[in-house]
Amino acid sequence: MTHKPIRKAIFPVGGQGTRFLPATKAVPKEMLPVVDRPLLQYAVDEALAAGIEQMIFVTARGKAALEEYFDVAGELVASLKAKGKAAELAVLDTTQLTPGRIAYVRQQEPAGLGHAVWCARLITGDEPFAVLLPDELLWNPAAPALKEMVGVYEQRGGNVISVLEVPEAHTSRYGIVRPGTVDGLVTEVLGLVEKPAAGTAPSRLAAIGRYILQPEVMTALAAHKRGAGGEIQLTDAMAEMIGVQPFHALTFTGVRHDCGDKAGFITANVALALERADVGPAVREYLATL
Ligand code: UTP
Repeated sequence: MTHKPIRKAIFPVGGQGTRFLPATKAVPKEMLPVVDRPLLQYAVDEALAAGIEQMIFVTARGKAALEEYFDVAGELVASLKAKGKAAELAVLDTTQLTPGRIAYVRQQEPAGLGHAVWCARLITGDEPFAVLLPDELLWNPAAPALKEMVGVYEQRGGNVISVLEVPEAHTSRYGIVRPGTVDGLVTEVLGLVEKPAAGTAPSRLAAIGRYILQPEVMTALAAHKRGAGGEIQLTDAMAEMIGVQPFHALTFTGVRHDCGDKAGFITANVALALERADVGPAVREYLATL
């Protein structure tokens, strides 16, 4: 059976990023660089690798820098060309998608992740879509997370989320899966609980910010039910799809950096810098002195 292709991806970037104040007073969290690329660029690259055609950014006040970043900087391009800086020009490639491939929607109040996704409903329409949380940097260049998920979707259809086993003590920070049948890295999802109270989590499989969802989830989100933390939770709307549509979790096999958290952001910078030929040796030399 063939399933509708996943052509659109929603990037919820409406959060206030309070854990990175004061920087995020003027710079959106998604623009903070890991080595030399903004966090959001890693997520966009992952979407491109998965064949996504249209990127939908759900933004908010104070996020204008995102639009500047994904625009064509005419003067910069002209000056790099004049100076023969081919490498620098090439680096700009994935920041300049052709017109129409990026759409912006405003989330007018920070009512939660589910609300942010719902804000994009008129653009996704009746198609299945992906959601990528850019502050989760899922690093697996050989097998990018969303591309692997699309592979599972093509076989099984329905909804597919990316998960990782987290320590029991951390389960209260995540949406947690109640697992069914396990087939290699793919687990059937029988239930989902957002931020379960300590000791009540149905497993240690936590959702880590990548989703392939069917359009019906938008109808569930439209009810604007408040969940954990008084926010409209994506997890709660997804849970309503279980049993109605196929629902699977794919365990991520790469390295996950939670860049919404200061320590995660710093370790991401160190880990990715160490992989780079240009800056890696100097960083390694410094770390060896500690
Ligand atoms: P977080 O829980 O990390 O919130 O959101 P935040 O505001 O970005 O950061 P802190 O906790 O204040 O430091 C997880 C993801 O959901 C998006 C965020 O942009 C981030 O990608 N989000 C969250 C929205 O788009 N809108 C919301 O109302 C809430």
